[in-house]
Amino acid sequence: MTSKSLSPPLRRTGGRKASPPPKRAWKPGNLLAPVPVVLVSCGGFRGFPPNLITIAWVGTVCSEPPMVSIAVRPERFSFPMLKKTGQFVVNLPSADLARHVDWCGVKSGRDVDKFAATGLTPLPGSRVSCPIVAECPVNLECRTTKTIPLGSHTLFLAEIVAVQVSASLLDGKGRLALEKAGLIAYLHGDYAALGQTIGRFGFSVRKRRGGKPRRS
Ligand SMILES: Cc1cc2nc3c(=O)[nH]c(=O)nc-3n(C[C@H](O)[C@H](O)[C@H](O)COP(=O)(O)O)c2cc1C
Repeated sequence: MTSKSLSPPLRRTGGRKASPPPKRAWKPGNLLAPVPVVLVSCGGFRGFPPNLITIAWVGTVCSEPPMVSIAVRPERFSFPMLKKTGQFVVNLPSADLARHVDWCGVKSGRDVDKFAATGLTPLPGSRVSCPIVAECPVNLECRTTKTIPLGSHTLFLAEIVAVQVSASLLDGKGRLALEKAGLIAYLHGDYAALGQTIGRFGFSVRKRRGGKPRRS
């Protein structure tokens, strides 16, 4: 890489370059962070009770078609219903639901009806037969296209077949103001509220009014 290939605004100007912080070797493990933490709703048809399972190993995997993945341990009560129905909903929780999220991640549907116990409201999905969680501002209705046993977890690859969002998040022009949803992240064991917005897609290369690139 030549020095010319770095665009000037990304370089800090003035003074000497500070040396990067020292590194230590750490054991291999799941340290990808922050990650989303979601309430997955499943069951509610084909003889399975409606259930909720907290999932942090969740990710976006494809844009066209829109797809997500969730990684689930086979010993979970939710596992057979996810496997046999091929349907689930990824519900994005807001910070006020952090306790519900944690609780659904330490209690099993084998022992308790999590919808009844938490008071969370099941509403019908529009394209899936399992319920969505009304209190969550965003609900991704999913149909599994592939399951891949990986080891401790089985990966469910799924197409997002419908999305529901709280009407209060839509502004007058129909834009989804997701930054107002108060979503939470999971950070190596901690639930975290999201902080301030520090940039928008492409802001590093966008020109300021007057033609000068923004400084980072
Ligand atoms: C923050 C958090 C994240 C979790 N992420 C996952 C996950 O990605 N995959 C998984 O199989 N279990 C995960 N769990 C554990 C399950 O949510 C938990 O075992 C739950 O009780 C299973 O519910 P069920 O037996 O009703 O299916 C997580 C738990 C917490 C608290």
